[in-house]
Parts: sequence; C-alpha cells; structure tokens
Amino acid sequence: MNTSFSRAKSVTENDHLVIFTKDIKKFNTSFLTTAEADYVKEELANESKQVLVNQYKRVIILYVVDKNADKNKVLELSRKAGDKVAAVLNKRKAKSVTLMDENLTDELLAFAEGMCLGNYQFLKYKKDKEKDANTLSEIKIASKKISDKDISLLNVVCEATCLTRNLVNEPQSFLTATQLAKEFQALGKDAGFTTEVFNKSKIQSMKMGGLLAVNQGSIEPPTFTVMEYKPNRKINKKPYVLVGKGVVYDTGGLSLKPTLNSMDYMKCDMAGGAIVGATLYAIAKAKLPIHVIGLVPATDNRPDGNAYTPGDVVTMYSGLTVEVLNTDAEGRMILADALHYAKQYDPELVMEFSTLTGAASVAIGQYGIVSMGTVDSRTKKELNDSANHVYERLVEFPFWEEYDELIKSDIADMKNVGGPSAGAITAGRFLNKFVNYPYMHFDIAGPAFVKSTDSYRGKNATGIGVRFMFDFFKNKSSK
Ligand code: BES
Ligand code: ZN
Ligand code: ZN
Repeated sequence: MNTSFSRAKSVTENDHLVIFTKDIKKFNTSFLTTAEADYVKEELANESKQVLVNQYKRVIILYVVDKNADKNKVLELSRKAGDKVAAVLNKRKAKSVTLMDENLTDELLAFAEGMCLGNYQFLKYKKDKEKDANTLSEIKIASKKISDKDISLLNVVCEATCLTRNLVNEPQSFLTATQLAKEFQALGKDAGFTTEVFNKSKIQSMKMGGLLAVNQGSIEPPTFTVMEYKPNRKINKKPYVLVGKGVVYDTGGLSLKPTLNSMDYMKCDMAGGAIVGATLYAIAKAKLPIHVIGLVPATDNRPDGNAYTPGDVVTMYSGLTVEVLNTDAEGRMILADALHYAKQYDPELVMEFSTLTGAASVAIGQYGIVSMGTVDSRTKKELNDSANHVYERLVEFPFWEEYDELIKSDIADMKNVGGPSAGAITAGRFLNKFVNYPYMHFDIAGPAFVKSTDSYRGKNATGIGVRFMFDFFKNKSSK
C-alpha cells in the first residue's frame, strides 16, 4: 500500500484539507477568507458537489455528500470522489491530506478508502520508481466520531486489498506455485496465522489427482497451502473455510487458448487464491474472533509432452472420476481436490473464489461477482448486505440440479465441461459434486482484472473480494 491512515493531531495552515458536509449551509468555512467563502457558496448554489479552493500553500476541497441516494450508493460515490481527489493532490505533489467532518463518519471513511485504493501503484518492475511514484502517502483523519479502531480496520482492509493486487499483478516469471506458497507463509508470519505447504511428493501421496493432472504439463511443481487462524476467543464453533483458485498462469494447456488477447492476462488466474491469503491476513491483523481456514491449490496450466489431454480420465482426491474434455477447464480440477480436503473440518460454511469461467465474465462483465451455492437464505442475505456495502455486488445464478445433466460422462462419473450453454453454472455444479457442507461459489473472472482504469479499483488487478469478505467477517464478529 502506498498510503496509510492516521489520526490528525492538529491542523496547520500547510495541510491540504477535504471538508465534508451534507448541508451546504453548514459548511465549516473557518479555513477560508471571506472572498473564498463567498466563491464556495456561489459554486454550491450552482449545484457543484465539490469545490476546490487553491490557497497559497495548500488546497481546500469542500465536498458535499449526496443525501438523496441510497446509503450504499452514497458510500460508493464517496469512494469514487476520494479517488479523484487523490489524483488532484498527486498532481500538486502533495504528501498528505487531512479529512474533516464531525458527522459523516461512514462517508468520510469511504472517501478515505477510495483515496487510498485509487492511489495504489505497482512499480516493482519500473527502473525509475521514484519518478513514477505518487507523492500522496498519508491520509489524516480529523473527526472525533471516528475511533482509532475504525482507522486501524480501514488500514488493514486497504493493505489487504493492495497486497492482493500486488500478487495478481505479479507475472508467473516470478510468481510460480512455489513462490505463491512462500508469499502466503510470509503473510502468515506477519499477521499471525499458521501455514502449511504441501509439496509435490506430499500431494502425490495424498492422491490429489485433479491438481496433479493439471500440473502434468508444467516444469514447476504444484503446491497446496493450508492457512489457519484460530484465536483463543472465537465466535464460531465450526470453522469458516475459504478456498481460492491458484492457477499462476493459464495457457489453456493442450486445449490452448488463442494467443490473441485471451492469454495476455492469464497471470490473474490465481486471484481467488490471493483473496484467500489476504482475507486471512486481514482477519488475523484485525484480530477478529473468527476461526478461519484458507486452502489454495496452485500450479500453472501448460501444454507439454506430458500434459494431461482431452479424453483422459482422472481419479480425483475424492475418488470420483472425471473425463477431461477440455484442459482449459483446469480451475475446477484443482478446486475439486481442495473442496474435498475441506470436508475434514466439518465447516460452518465454505466460500470459494475463482476466476473460473469466461462465461461468468461474458454474462455480467466486470461490475459484479457471479455467485451460486447452497447456503440458507439468512446467510445469503448477510453476504449480499456485505457485498452491497462495499460495492462488490453479487449476481446470484441458479444452482439447479438439472444442470448436472450437462456434465454427465459416458465413461466417468462426470466430465469437466458442460457444453456451450450455462458455462458458469455447469462449472459451479461440477464443484458441488465435491462438497458436503454449506457452500458458496464466487466466480470473479469478470471483475478480478480490468483492462482500463475503473476509478479506485484501478487498472489491472482490482483486489476484488477482500473488502467483501472482511466486511462479512467484521459483521459476524460484532454479532
Ligand atoms: N481462467 C479461465 C477463465 C477466465 C476467463 C478467467 C477470462 C479470467 C478471464 C478458465 O480456466 C477457463 O479457461 N475457462 C474456460 C472453461 C471452458 C473450457 C469450459 C472458459 O471459460 O472458456
Ligand atoms: Zn482455463
Ligand atoms: Zn483458468
């Protein structure tokens, strides 16, 4: 993360300021001259939502929070406004900014979040990092109503989102399956959760046939990382389990993707795995009273002399057999083994994140997460409330058993593709064959990686999923 949050101890005449209000008549104008205050009033009367006053040593931005829209929409508009203001401040080479208000706490926090996430950069591979780096590095919050805890939770979730983006932006030339596991170990060490990494021989001895099949074409060994955060005080008897797809690069394998476009961004195919590691990191850093386990099977998917081929029958870790008809449907092969592994925990709920299907992306694009699953309606509502609150919205697809017809195989227990219709759903139904607990599948193929700048979500890796999960577990902790 390039930016961090702190409490403003005092405000000096050199500090850049953003001042919030809901009521344009009640703006705090104590930092303005009479002429400036008149100018602001005039601008606001013309329905401007944001006025910038350029003083000698600093800028003051007066920001009017929309009071008519729905609360979640207002928060999203605040994040987007924060992103824009961060750009203005960077242009002026500002290092820090102070956000002020006494009443609009949620909006101010959302604005700060948008500023920080919009300020993210991935400069690891640039020679002249200093020159390219944004200057803004400190967001100070001057509001007595916002607690130190609010500030530290915001720090944690933004940091976790940015570290997800870092992992997803890393090319496979660095981020092999082994390296991904090492990154998880480092996160665990930093935040205080345990990690255990299964290497290839352990994975072979466990007979994780799906993960091994996908790995057959690779010269890099697979890994299977188990992360666990189990605090002394925990509110859940049974653990929550998070599962994430860790395909560090997807060429499609022998069912090779066409090189034009479709392979260019396939380093993002471990975004689900990154969400899992980062969510454990955030939960452990924030010391939420939640027992949670993270599972990430990882490999790259490549064509090679020994690569798995269409027509192969693979015996999975669960013992079920799969007829492989497309080696590009590899995510479900490795996730199935992880979902079977999760059964031993008798989990409260398993949530799995994956860039699983182009079909999900085609159906809803980059503005939401395709979700499906078997959890009760109360949990679905809690998930939706969190998703809407952070604006990582869910679009629920049907999960009817009739779709299982489409993945029937003549010679094995199922096949790994379902044909041209309902591709996102047949992928989900395939995974459901390896599950015996309440389960939600989140297909993030659309929003995980975007090709043009989308406000504070940025360009390239967005880190989607982490704010959603953290909000969900934060709410669980406060119940
Ligand atoms: N990793 C891809 C899905 C994907 C597509 C992720 C676009 C991000 C952006 C996945 O492994 C895949 O190739 N799925 C196939 C499944 C098909 C062969 C049944 C697809 O969606 O085309
Ligand atoms: Zn694929
Ligand atoms: Zn894939």
